[in-house]
Amino acid sequence: MARILIIDDDQSILESLEMYFVEKGHTIGKAATGRVGLELFRRQKPDIVILDIRLPDESGMELLKQMQDLDPISKVIMITAFQDMKSIIDSMKEGAYDYIQKPLDIDEVERVVNQALQVLEVDRETAGYEEIGPMADQDVIVGASDKMRQIFKMIGLLCRNTTTVLIQGETGTGKELVARSIHLNSPYHGEPFVVLDCSSIVETLIESELFGHEKGAFTGAGQAKPGKIELAGRGTLFLDEIGELPLSLQSKFLGFLQRREYMRIGGQTTLQSNCRIIAATNRDLSGLVQKGQFKEDLYYRLRVVTLDMPPLRERVSDIPELVNHFLQKITAEFGSGPIKLQKGVLERLTAHSWVGNVRELENVLVEAAVRAQGKVILLEEIDRILVSKRGKAEEEPGDHSLPRVEKKHIENILASVEGNRTRAARILGISLPTLRSKIQKYRIVSD
Ligand SMILES: Nc1ncnc2c1ncn2[C@@H]1O[C@H](COP(=O)(O)OP(=O)(O)OP(=O)(O)O)[C@@H](O)[C@H]1O
Ligand SMILES: [Mg+2]
Repeated sequence: MARILIIDDDQSILESLEMYFVEKGHTIGKAATGRVGLELFRRQKPDIVILDIRLPDESGMELLKQMQDLDPISKVIMITAFQDMKSIIDSMKEGAYDYIQKPLDIDEVERVVNQALQVLEVDRETAGYEEIGPMADQDVIVGASDKMRQIFKMIGLLCRNTTTVLIQGETGTGKELVARSIHLNSPYHGEPFVVLDCSSIVETLIESELFGHEKGAFTGAGQAKPGKIELAGRGTLFLDEIGELPLSLQSKFLGFLQRREYMRIGGQTTLQSNCRIIAATNRDLSGLVQKGQFKEDLYYRLRVVTLDMPPLRERVSDIPELVNHFLQKITAEFGSGPIKLQKGVLERLTAHSWVGNVRELENVLVEAAVRAQGKVILLEEIDRILVSKRGKAEEEPGDHSLPRVEKKHIENILASVEGNRTRAARILGISLPTLRSKIQKYRIVSD
């Protein structure tokens, strides 16, 4: 049960909130002025303060600052009289936990107070614990699962030569990150790393983006412009979404790969380039080849070495470290103190299926961190965000019936813990016997 201090000059609010919270078993302090309020705050050390922003003697904002100095863990909830964006922003900036608006809706008050209490609990458990991690590095690739270790090994091998690489994998699995890493670890890391996203530009422009053009080569070509091949110099040309390269250009690009020679559009001189080519795709290129949408010989030229980025759901053991990594990155970007997780959050994140892979995980964490008042990410907040994003995931084709998804999910979790059923049950949040019966029901082959 909590100690709640209510400071408001409106007697009816004081009394109705008191009645309400006493009924719930909390201890209440009341004050009608700022001076008395601060005095009670010092003596009673409340867990939660409900503070009117407008008081007869002192401003609520001023009081909020003093309370935060005295006890930064206590949660101050501001009452604002009307839609006042500025006072809301200012009080949140000063460390208010949240705000509620007059006229008070008791359900809203209760919801905010209950959330604040949960945050308080986590804060107390970890009081005095300040985790200041090293600055998160932009290009660091997080992961210790077997699948990621294979990827690291390949990066290590590939950065010693300049062979063409094809990186395949679902969206958000880190294809570009890996391409950069190969470049950055190579002897030519001082040379350019140039990106051409084959899906983001108008078809007619890709040719000139790739090969460049001379002045007057076509309408609008007022000035000569080098292409990305030229810009890459002796560095790396990263062709993202190579599956989107128009067929007509595929032949021309293949010609370049075979001879390592090309001309700018409208040019007379043959240029040469030995830049490294790394291509990436989230489409099934061999499928496109079969459908005649991707040239077979270009496909074989590109896939000298292929890297298959594993989807996040096949390496859930990496999730805790990724979460940690992103929280540090967010903390550094926001310039805020450490962000903590309520119990159960990590389990929930581990159990999610992450259609958008690492990028989706990062986005969810950023959103949760922005909303994490009191710097604690609550389970209910994560649930809310995951549910609001779920609509998108369900648009994906395939069998998404609940039993099918459940079966797949159990298989993935089991694979990630190398068949250890006790650990799998813990991650899944079900008992061991329940897990066993589901394994039987779905005829899952494990261990
Ligand atoms: N293993 C990882 N460790 C740390 N950050 C990662 C990892 N994998 C991906 N990320 C981050 O996730 C985001 C998405 O990665 P990236 O852009 O490389 O994915 P992608 O496979 O190219 O996706 P798309 O197909 O949608 O272009 C980036 O912010 C990247 O830094
Ligand atoms: Mg990408």
